[in-house]
Amino acid sequence: MTKSLLDSVMTICLRRGVLFPTAEIYGGLAGFYDFGPVGTRLRNNLINLWRQHFVESQDFVYEISGTTLLPASVFKASGHLDHFTDPSAECSRGHVTRVDQFIEEKLKIPAEGKSNEELAEIVREHKLRCPICGEPLREVRSFGLMFGTSVGGERRQAFLRPETAQNIFLAFRRIQTATRAKLPLGVAQIGKSYRNEISPRQSVVRVREFGQMEIEYFINPDQLNECPLFSELKNVKLPIVTQEVQQEASEKGSTEYSTTLLTVEEVFTQGIVPNQWMASVLGNEMVFIPQLGIPKEAIRFRHMRPEETPHYSGGNFDLEVQLSIGWKEVIGNAYRRDHDLQAHMKGSQKDLSIDVEGTKVIPHVVEPSFGIERLLYCVLEHTYRPKGEKRGWTWFQFPPQMAPFDAVFLPLLKRPEFEEIAYNLYKKCQLQRLAVLYDEKGRIGRRYARADEIGIPSAVTIDHQTLEDKTVTLRSRDTLEQTRHRLREIPRILQKIKQSKGF
Ligand code: GLY
Repeated sequence: MTKSLLDSVMTICLRRGVLFPTAEIYGGLAGFYDFGPVGTRLRNNLINLWRQHFVESQDFVYEISGTTLLPASVFKASGHLDHFTDPSAECSRGHVTRVDQFIEEKLKIPAEGKSNEELAEIVREHKLRCPICGEPLREVRSFGLMFGTSVGGERRQAFLRPETAQNIFLAFRRIQTATRAKLPLGVAQIGKSYRNEISPRQSVVRVREFGQMEIEYFINPDQLNECPLFSELKNVKLPIVTQEVQQEASEKGSTEYSTTLLTVEEVFTQGIVPNQWMASVLGNEMVFIPQLGIPKEAIRFRHMRPEETPHYSGGNFDLEVQLSIGWKEVIGNAYRRDHDLQAHMKGSQKDLSIDVEGTKVIPHVVEPSFGIERLLYCVLEHTYRPKGEKRGWTWFQFPPQMAPFDAVFLPLLKRPEFEEIAYNLYKKCQLQRLAVLYDEKGRIGRRYARADEIGIPSAVTIDHQTLEDKTVTLRSRDTLEQTRHRLREIPRILQKIKQSKGF
């Protein structure tokens, strides 16, 4: 049997220190992964690119870092305690199955968002049995997705946050007062969130502890159609899957959807998205995501069906990426309206409105929410290159800014005269804030292969000619071309490659 793409990518990830199952020596814990040395670099690069694009280059966006554990009162007010659940069905042996997904896989019909009664009816009608042991599935119930605990001596009930967003709503007034920012105001947060998924699968595509990069854009409700990003983004083309297309497909019993290519301006003027802010947020993502090495053709924005839309949202557009395991949500874009601020005003009895020229305003919120591990997996799958005629090993074609290292330095032979020059040049580049690696072990071909396997864009080899004329070989990962350059030019050349888009 040929290996699936997911398995091939995961094999390299395990072998080369991208990620590993957590507590592997104890049999692991389903839905939890640790990032290794290479994976941590990839993850950091992804975060830095995101921060640069969405936070640092915007005058009105501020970043915070909140705690992951929050009191139960927060989630009672936000609605998560009552509504943040997945439908589950238990068999007589106690195995719990995420029943909507199971129906979708088994019967190939859309089931997400259906009520427990509707799902139970499908289970009965098709006599579905437990996928683990084959016993009949019993009643369908809502399974709470938050991890709970109790805090300190007073045993106050608390939950690990299921989204980073809540810290932002809770501290909204403090942030606004401290920054003296006017609307629109964006508050970003990068951090961990937790969801007690019933049956996590597909490696890091669905995990129980995961990283999120979220922005809550707080907007004056009278100015939802006056987004400062719009003029710059209005001509960006968006592949949209409308609700009508999904409805038609579902009537035919299909989950294959066609896309319509519309500009940011068109999705706004045709009323496909709820407001101009949402249109601009989608446009900005369409600019950003291909820079990570994910081709435009593998991206679409799906208007979520009403029954799938989260409880807080007045409209969601998911950015989905096509993977070998199907189209997967990578970014959730929600028009949260004033749901959260209103809910916390009620729950805390504190006034969270702000003063806009003498009038109390409760801002509306548009939220892009990125899943870090999923996005990283999409980058891995789309930049993975199988063995070919020109090289007998797999490799990753990361854009230079995503690559875990900018270059590897290789003395051709393990002899002091080669090693000294290679090591000094490596150190010089390190001082210039290049991410570099030094590798002197094994045959040169094997070392090139090791560098390609973790997607290092350049290899610098110190060879016999270096000793004579102070030139070195620069090998390109993408073209396999080897060119000679003066040794002292190397840091500048590597900086230039690092800033380039690659490909
Ligand atoms: N904040 C939205 C989400 O976590 O899905």
